Amino acid sequence: MMRVMVTGGAGFIGSMTAAALRDAGHEVTAVDDLSRGRRDVVPDGVRFVQADVTDAGAIEPIVAAGRFDACLHFAALIEVGDSMQRPEAYFAMNTAGTARLLDVLMRHDVGRFVFSSTAATYGEPTTVPIEESHANTPTNPYGESKLMTERMLAWYRRLHGLRSASLRYFNAAGATGRHGERYDDHQTHLIPLVLMAASGRREHVRVFGIDYPTPDGTAVRDYIHVADLAEAHVLALAALDSDSPSSRDGDADVGTGDGRIVANLANGAGFSVREVITTAQDVTGLVVPAVDEPRRAGDPAVLIASAERARTVLGWEPKRPALATIVDDAWQHLQAYGPPAP
Ligand SMILES: NC(=O)c1ccc[n+]([C@@H]2O[C@H](COP(=O)([O-])OP(=O)(O)OC[C@H]3O[C@@H](n4cnc5c(N)ncnc54)[C@H](O)[C@@H]3O)[C@@H](O)[C@H]2O)c1
Repeated sequence: MMRVMVTGGAGFIGSMTAAALRDAGHEVTAVDDLSRGRRDVVPDGVRFVQADVTDAGAIEPIVAAGRFDACLHFAALIEVGDSMQRPEAYFAMNTAGTARLLDVLMRHDVGRFVFSSTAATYGEPTTVPIEESHANTPTNPYGESKLMTERMLAWYRRLHGLRSASLRYFNAAGATGRHGERYDDHQTHLIPLVLMAASGRREHVRVFGIDYPTPDGTAVRDYIHVADLAEAHVLALAALDSDSPSSRDGDADVGTGDGRIVANLANGAGFSVREVITTAQDVTGLVVPAVDEPRRAGDPAVLIASAERARTVLGWEPKRPALATIVDDAWQHLQAYGPPAP
């Protein structure tokens, strides 16, 4: 059993992971400022504290009292397009804010850190499936802000002994019970947008690009079920205490070794925008109104990850890889917890 702090624990992936950590026997404290999260998704049996995790003055007493063994850091600004409009907010929150959090954690000897990183650290892929050794050339400030934090963590391992796992998620999707995506105007993820269009909560879904070099011309992405992501975090926390050679990340130039993991969390399979729409129609029995539009700048044709390292290093196997399962679980969640259909 560990005492674990989960930042962003009232959000989509953080709340689901808090439940998985609790089920694995850990004592969990969720810390969230509720800027985007909701108090009612914090699982039973998980302590909740409302605070801004980038405010050192607010976090210090929480960390001092919690005597945490580990911090899982989900709290972040997460919208790629928004990061192109206001990059300063992303560097302030995701990079500088994380540095302030790390500073407090170091002062209180919290020696383990699991970081929500992203596929956006890679940028435009030159090889697919994307392996962790792929070059990191982010095409937006969101990805850059997360990559900078990964690099800080390499130095913290070397200079402060902090053990860390940077988990690069591809497209988190699906739902379990109360833990699902938001259905509001900020939503930018394809599956919720398609389901909102199916149920009349949006007029239509926009399909950006129908002339990609893919089988049906639409872009292909790797979707991973949120419950599989949550399980990977429980395994990553355990793996941080393993000194086996397989837990070593050998590809960084800033000093890495055992106790530092960098791993993709992904399905390993890709689905096109059209496949998502067709699957949503099958699952819901409804028509998804879709409007074809030109490609968006910076959207690669295919983003599929290799999930091999997570399998080897964490012993992780996604249990819900089928697109129909992912879409159906999201649909159940929308019907039970989403805003009313018109
Ligand atoms: N959803 C995805 O597909 C995806 C993909 C790659 C990486 N990620 C990463 O996973 C993490 C979780 O994403 P999510 O989809 O659950 O998003 P989310 O918005 O549902 O969760 C983020 C949570 O952090 C909280 N938060 C934000 N700023 C805070 C602050 N200063 N102090 C305290 N709490 C704060 C929000 O209220 C929210 O509850 C993020 O770090 C994101 O970058 C998500």
